[in-house]
Amino acid sequence: MPDIPPLLPNSHQALLRNLPAAPGRLALLGVTDPRLLMALPGGGLAFTEHYGVLQQLKVRPDWQAAFGYEDPGLMPDSMDSVVVFMPKARSELTLRLALAAHLLREGGRVILIGEKREGIAGAVKQLKAMASDAVKLDSARHCQVWMGEPQRPESMGPAVAAFDIGQWLSWHQVEAAGVTLEVAGLPGIFSEGRLDDGTRLLLEALADMDLSGPVLDFACGAGTIGAWLHCHSAGRLAIDGVDVQAQAVLCARQTYERAGVKGEIRASDGLPAEAGRYATIVSNPPFHTGVKTDLSMTTRFLQQAEKHLAVRGDLVLVANRFLPYAELLEKHIGACRVLSSNDRYTVYHACRRLAVRHRNTDG
Ligand SMILES: C[S@@+](CC[C@H](N)C(=O)[O-])C[C@H]1O[C@@H](n2cnc3c(N)ncnc32)[C@H](O)[C@@H]1O
Repeated sequence: MPDIPPLLPNSHQALLRNLPAAPGRLALLGVTDPRLLMALPGGGLAFTEHYGVLQQLKVRPDWQAAFGYEDPGLMPDSMDSVVVFMPKARSELTLRLALAAHLLREGGRVILIGEKREGIAGAVKQLKAMASDAVKLDSARHCQVWMGEPQRPESMGPAVAAFDIGQWLSWHQVEAAGVTLEVAGLPGIFSEGRLDDGTRLLLEALADMDLSGPVLDFACGAGTIGAWLHCHSAGRLAIDGVDVQAQAVLCARQTYERAGVKGEIRASDGLPAEAGRYATIVSNPPFHTGVKTDLSMTTRFLQQAEKHLAVRGDLVLVANRFLPYAELLEKHIGACRVLSSNDRYTVYHACRRLAVRHRNTDG
């Protein structure tokens, strides 16, 4: 067994224990810790939906890094073994398994790895639907490791099922503060198929403001906020968006195109240094890493936002009401007030002060 770097996620450690089960050209779908590649003997394809992880995968020689389900490097019939790590959202597993079937050559094998708390027990049913011979290889590191050989429908002969992410795209209607729009969805995206309650409270607060452009929507998800602002301002505002997740970037571009929004959507882990300066920044920011509450992403975003928000510019964000954002906004942006609140969420508004003063607690 290869050397296992300390603190590698359980699912990655479970793969390293079972490497002989994954011979030949290898694809890894859903790498969350790039150090896994250092522990593997050969190269292959490493797929992620996270733009920050992608940057670290790209520097590994011998490995081809792929970002999201429309990456041009996802070639059919090209792999002998495909490892599927359980995604955070169960709905996305279907997508990962379909991609695995697309990548595998005839007779290749899929290896599904996940923890009990990630829902591996239920996921095995999905694996067996495509590979009825699937067997459990191992139970270790709180994970189960399953392996099967996907059968191809006879009618298909040796040809592989084409994988087209466009076929997985769905549309739903969103209505908030008198504005109706259509929003794109894909498995794994935040609040797929419905308007999030926090986002709704944010939109209702924005409806009462006279915002200036250009606007940036940080952590834009499917592009709901930008498309809503475009419609609400009758096309007056240009709204850029950034998100770390490949499905979000794809959906936001689709949502923008359908609504005719002026603005660019880009993939970024945090606010990109090359982003311009905005009169307004809006956000329903992330506060989870997996299942744990994690304020570090929003703290980093607010630190970065100082540089991208014009003096006297507005920053409006919604957050779960138990999160201590007022203090962070005061510290990094300027005077902060609560615009609205309900039993779950609070909408904050901060106006950027002339010069940002830091208390000596700054690191
Ligand atoms: C609470 S959701 C909000 C999505 C959307 N704005 C809405 O209201 O429907 C947070 C979003 O943050 C994105 N995200 C998480 N970490 C990020 C990071 N480091 N940089 C940029 N976006 C991130 C997630 O992919 C997710 O789409």
